[in-house]
Amino acid sequence: MQNKEYFDHWAEHYDNNILWGHYFKYCYKQIIRIVKEKNIKFFNILDLGCGTGELERQLFFQFPHIEITAVDLSDKMINIASNKIKNKNIKFIIDDANNLHFFENSFDTIFVLNNLHHFPSLEIFLEKINPWLKSNGYLFIIDPFKDNLIKTIWCFLLKHLFFREKNVHYHKTQELIFKIQNLKYSLIKSNSIYYFSSFLIFRKN
Ligand SMILES: C[S@@+](CC[C@H](N)C(=O)[O-])C[C@H]1O[C@@H](n2cnc3c(N)ncnc32)[C@H](O)[C@@H]1O
Repeated sequence: MQNKEYFDHWAEHYDNNILWGHYFKYCYKQIIRIVKEKNIKFFNILDLGCGTGELERQLFFQFPHIEITAVDLSDKMINIASNKIKNKNIKFIIDDANNLHFFENSFDTIFVLNNLHHFPSLEIFLEKINPWLKSNGYLFIIDPFKDNLIKTIWCFLLKHLFFREKNVHYHKTQELIFKIQNLKYSLIKSNSIYYFSSFLIFRKN
């Protein structure tokens, strides 16, 4: 499992990385801003690939009533997150998201933030998580997308120069939107983050 070792190694400097730390913090800020702006009500959240739990820490501060299931395959990431967050309303799971099983309608919100590119098949991934989300629930996705030539070059640089991750598959925003809409979701928000990433919120009908 080369990704696990890679993320274990990254965990120690994930929050304080000079360049990418800003990007990730900006993502969390945008999520909280949009949730407030759109008056999105959530209670029972699944965060797939939660990393060091920085988003969770900020969400509990803003929305103390919520419950979060935070999953990551890196035990080092989860260790940092669990040391950071002492809250009875969070459950940490160390596992590969591909191995997870939840009951239908377990969550009203699912976050897939900055890790969709680790799931090679959008179809298989979406089919897996779709039953877990209640109707009228929200699916939040942030990821770099190779939508045009410049973004494709960005994705190439992210893969080969900046992050040097293995098993990475960047997708196209429109392709993702099309596939999620086919599963009877409505797109309620779409904008860019740091030019190369898209921030998308879908609502399950
Ligand atoms: C770039 S970090 C993003 C962390 C957090 N979501 C954020 O936006 O700051 C990607 C995270 O996804 C996790 N991850 C990657 N593939 C995964 C998988 N198949 N199952 C669970 N977690 C995974 C990694 O361990 C890592 O912590």
